[in-house]
Amino acid sequence: MAAKPLRVGVVGTGFGRYHMEGFSQVPGVEILAICDLNKAEAQQFASQYGAKYVFTSAKRMFAMDELDAVSIAVPNALHAPMTLDALNQGKHVLIEKPMTITPADAQKMADAAKKAGKLLMVEQALRFRPEAQLVKAYADRGEFGDMYYARSTWYRRKGWPHLHMPPDGTLGRGVWFLQKRLAGFGALGDIGVHLLDLAWYLMGTPKPVSVSGQLFRQVAVPELKAKGLPAEVEEMAAGLIKFQGGKAIMVEVSWDTYTQPAMECFLMGNRGGASVFPARVFRGSDIDETVDIETHYNGLPIETAFSHFIDCIRDRRKKCIAPADQNVTLIRMLDALARSAKSGKEVRL
Ligand SMILES: NC(=O)c1ccc[n+]([C@@H]2O[C@H](COP(=O)([O-])OP(=O)(O)OC[C@H]3O[C@@H](n4cnc5c(N)ncnc54)[C@H](O)[C@@H]3O)[C@@H](O)[C@H]2O)c1
Repeated sequence: MAAKPLRVGVVGTGFGRYHMEGFSQVPGVEILAICDLNKAEAQQFASQYGAKYVFTSAKRMFAMDELDAVSIAVPNALHAPMTLDALNQGKHVLIEKPMTITPADAQKMADAAKKAGKLLMVEQALRFRPEAQLVKAYADRGEFGDMYYARSTWYRRKGWPHLHMPPDGTLGRGVWFLQKRLAGFGALGDIGVHLLDLAWYLMGTPKPVSVSGQLFRQVAVPELKAKGLPAEVEEMAAGLIKFQGGKAIMVEVSWDTYTQPAMECFLMGNRGGASVFPARVFRGSDIDETVDIETHYNGLPIETAFSHFIDCIRDRRKKCIAPADQNVTLIRMLDALARSAKSGKEVRL
């Protein structure tokens, strides 16, 4: 007998449209409902993905008995209240990054998931990149030895959300990205959250002990002002996070810099190391190899965040790749980096 379909509702039709596309590719999943304040857009995606219901109120959608799980892609400040509401209504939740904008809310969300006995997973998209999973497999087999340092970087040119992105919702559309109250962070919470998390995950999530950071807003402010847009958040963040056992990660991200655009994650261990984009492993004193993704996966299906979320709901013993508990620590590190920039001092965790 075929398993009962798992019924999912998606909130947000900006990046949320990629959630719909992702779920539409997972066998046994029905996209039952779509919610957005923009009803016309919600309706448009509902017809594209065959969703029966359209909502403009997430609260009302979460109250539907037929829904098993929801995924949420709305402005960052709404992540905590919506997640808590959905968990209270007995739904499994996939929440976009950053999980939320304060460590206290992150803890509340993780606690609420435990209390409800539901899965809360964070859409840390880079953890699911095939290159990342490949490097993780080498790291987990101990091929790099003790991993002591990583440098993780994302430099963009003209890459502010809203200001430089298309207005159609395919990428970083909302003006809320520029508003501290709604976004919480600037580039740190938007792309720093990915790059720090990737290095930290691949190093085995060591325990942070201190953070020293700096935030910058040097390039695009005149352009924002000329367009009458808010200039409330940082466009660049740099930080050094130190971990137990003398390990460290250097993270640097910027939405706009006068330099070579780059997305890189370099990892160093005492017996080997890796770079992630593209996946390359280094072992021994003079050997390095570029690992071919196709050969590595050898025709096996590559998990996406969406297939993994569904698998983890179906099998609650399955180890979640991006669990809420770990993300609480990630949000604490981001918050500490911002506090360090403000105070000019190292922040102990
Ligand atoms: N994982 C990734 O790589 C990735 C990429 C892009 C965005 N994101 C995240 O996704 C989230 C959304 O970003 P986006 O780019 O889609 O922004 P967006 O501005 O394009 O879309 C947000 C959508 O939320 C809707 N919305 C706002 N308030 C709502 C409410 N109360 N109820 C229902 N709908 C509401 C808006 O109408 C809009 O359609 C953010 O947290 C962002 O960080 C993640």
